[in-house]
Amino acid sequence: MTKNEQIRKAVIPVAGLGTRFLPATKATAKEMLPVVDKPAIQYVVEEAATAGLTDLLFVTGRDKTSLENHFDRAPALERTLTDKGSHEVVEELIALSHLADMHYVRQGNPNGLGHAVNMGRAHIGNVPFAVLLGDDLIDANTPVLPAMFDVQSRFGGSVLCLMEVDPSQTHMYGCAAVEETELPGVVRVTGLVEKPAPGTAPSNYAVIGRYVIAPEVFDILDTQAPGRGGEIQLTDALATLIDRPTEQGGGVHAVIFTGKRYDTGDKLSYLQSVVSLALDRADLGPDLRAWLIERLASDQ
Ligand code: G1P
Repeated sequence: MTKNEQIRKAVIPVAGLGTRFLPATKATAKEMLPVVDKPAIQYVVEEAATAGLTDLLFVTGRDKTSLENHFDRAPALERTLTDKGSHEVVEELIALSHLADMHYVRQGNPNGLGHAVNMGRAHIGNVPFAVLLGDDLIDANTPVLPAMFDVQSRFGGSVLCLMEVDPSQTHMYGCAAVEETELPGVVRVTGLVEKPAPGTAPSNYAVIGRYVIAPEVFDILDTQAPGRGGEIQLTDALATLIDRPTEQGGGVHAVIFTGKRYDTGDKLSYLQSVVSLALDRADLGPDLRAWLIERLASDQ
């Protein structure tokens, strides 16, 4: 791939069990939990499509059929709605199947994020690709993928998305040691640690769930030993790429994200995503805002 060729392919790992959200996720894929009136995963897919990603590979597992159905045609439902004259809704449902080319591969034995990404090897081939984590919802008003693609086309290698977090939170994320570059908001990554023990993080910069990755990562993942939690960690493979020469897919940069991001796998952050996105909606925002003010006042 030449440096200016667009990144078109993405891997979206969605095999996780959603245990943080039981019992809601006992019989439903966690990615299908609604944020206002769309399942969480739809925001991720719309973000990908808006950024020009046209080929999405979902790494799924058991009980993810509802997710596959969501992005497929639903002839019986479409007919019923058409008979009722609900043409706009039908259009909206059909549009879901045109957002991108969707492909699915199953991760029979979930063995970590690195293992999930490596399931995409045959599909991705030898081009840089994006990875979008299904739990990370990035507000459409503050997109980050376009900036990451620009950084990749300038420096090659891989590009992460970093967000400054409170030091008490670093143990929940991959954390990066960084150096400034000549570009504002873009850093060179000099070290990466997956979920460092409290007090040992190299910085307060946490890796969030958007990546652009050089295809050389697959060879690394193939032979990589298990890391944190006994799993094959994507962070460890990216750490290996830091010191590789550029011609071997090496070099890792990052965009510092300052926009709005929610972890829809975490109960509090999930609630914040619902409230925040609803407040921004013309049809719901004004009434919800008025109700919230009243509700909060009655607590005092
Ligand atoms: C994964 C990655 C971690 C990253 C996080 C972002 O962890 O392993 O490096 O910081 O996603 O959401 P998980 O949240 O799947 O445990």
